[in-house]
This record gives sequence, C-alpha cells and structure tokens, in this order.
Amino acid sequence: MELLKMQNVSFSYRDKQILHDLNLSVKNGEFVTILGPSGSGKSTIFQLIGGIQTPYMGSIILEGEEITGDRGHISYMPQSPSLLPWRTIIQNVLLGQELQAKKDYKKADEMLQRAGLLEYRNAYPHELSGGMKQRVAFLRALLSPQPIICLDEPFSALDELTRQEMQLWLLSIWEQYKKTIIFVTHNIEEALFLSDRIFVLSAKPARIKQEVVVPFLRPRDEEMLFTGEFLQHKKMIHDLLRKG
Ligand SMILES: Nc1ncnc2c1ncn2[C@@H]1O[C@H](COP(=O)(O)OP(=O)(O)O)[C@@H](O)[C@H]1O
Ligand SMILES: [Mg+2]
Repeated sequence: MELLKMQNVSFSYRDKQILHDLNLSVKNGEFVTILGPSGSGKSTIFQLIGGIQTPYMGSIILEGEEITGDRGHISYMPQSPSLLPWRTIIQNVLLGQELQAKKDYKKADEMLQRAGLLEYRNAYPHELSGGMKQRVAFLRALLSPQPIICLDEPFSALDELTRQEMQLWLLSIWEQYKKTIIFVTHNIEEALFLSDRIFVLSAKPARIKQEVVVPFLRPRDEEMLFTGEFLQHKKMIHDLLRKG
C-alpha cells in the first residue's frame, strides 16, 4: 500500500517552470531519497508535500486521501535544527506533540537515552553542539504524530567524518522505529548509503528521471562505501545526473 503519492505534479514559480509532471510514491516504513543538484527543486517538492505551496497541476495523496495544498500532514526537518532556545531539550523533543492531550515523556526519554542525550534532558539548546542539536531535532520529528518525516539536506553543512557518523546514527535510529522517511540530498554517496530507493531528478524543469532500487543489505556500514558494487552504482547515478 502506498503511503504517499505525487501524481503528475507540475509547479511553477513566477512563470518559471520548476517541476513538470512529477510522479513518485513512497511505501509505509520506507527510506526514500530525492536526489538532484542544487536548485533542481528538491525543497520545492517538500513545500508541496507540506502544503506550503500548491501545484498548478496534479495531486498529492496521503493514505489514499488527497491532501494537495493541505498543511500539517508531514513532519518536516529543515536544514538547520531550529530548536526553541527557551525550551529545554525534553520540551523541544516533545514539541511535535504540542496538540496532543498527553505528551509521551516515557518514549521521549527512551529515545534520548538511545541517542546518548539523556544527561542533556533538562539542558537548553545553546549547551549542545551542532550535531547534538540535530539529533534532538530528528528525535522531535520521529515523535511527531505525522506518518512521514521529510529531511531536507540535514547533513550538508557537516564535515565528511561527522556526516558519516550522523548517517550511521540516523540509520540505527530509523531501523529501530521504522517511520517513513523522505530524504533530500545532492550527494550521490549519501543517497546510496541511506536509502531503499532513490528518485533521481532530471534537469529543469524537474521530473523523476529514474528510480533506483538500492540493493545493499541492512544494517549498513562504512565498508560498503568501498565495494565495487557501491562504486558501480555511484557511477551509474553520476552519469544519469550528468546527462541532465
Ligand atoms: N522563493 C524563491 N525565490 C526565488 N526562486 C525560487 C524560490 N522558490 C523556488 N525558486 C526557484 O525554484 C528552483 C528550485 O528551488 P529549490 O526547490 O529550493 O531547489 P533545491 O532545494 O533543489 O536546491 C530554484 O532554482 C529557483 O529558481
Ligand atoms: Mg533545497
């Protein structure tokens, strides 16, 4: 059963065509990545899924219901962690549950524990490093009631080693909770390392140029990055993007 579908979605911004007849679908529990160069329309796709923008054609369907132009159905994590500075870490983690009658402190504490952040439970965001803040923002997204988490290039500002560390951490947490993730990146290696499937965007106006099913078993580790099969896939996707 498809959890989310974008059907024949076209979008333009001030007369400029950004997306043209874009189709994609995501299944429950999947980790999918939308891959394309800067300016190709990746964040725009999230704005459409999140109802911040409305396509001039096509529809967005969540659990069988049309949600085109509706807000609040997905949990969105922007590039910078955006924690509220006047709230403690536990209160930030539970922010997505603001409208729920009873906040799930037990689960939040369990997640903080697993993320190695329990000792910062009552600290404020300025007491945490950049990477720790990002983990908190991610836990918040995981605990939100929405069925899908959208992650917009969360690791692009990190150095190579920290990025790999965060990717491994993200996978380990995701494998425990199996919430559906749509991830956006311009980094081929990152897309291959994390995803079940990759949607490769075409040159402007963007549509899905190809869907790549990632064959690598889970759990994944860094050794995978140096195998022949990984490099082959990397080259294949590189060539796809090159041709536009
Ligand atoms: N607010 C905006 N101001 C100017 N251009 C925009 C705006 N929103 C979207 N665009 C246009 O949409 C294109 C896609 O943008 P975006 O979705 O942010 O790309 P990506 O996230 O892949 O880098 C850009 O190349 C730009 O021309
Ligand atoms: Mg973007």
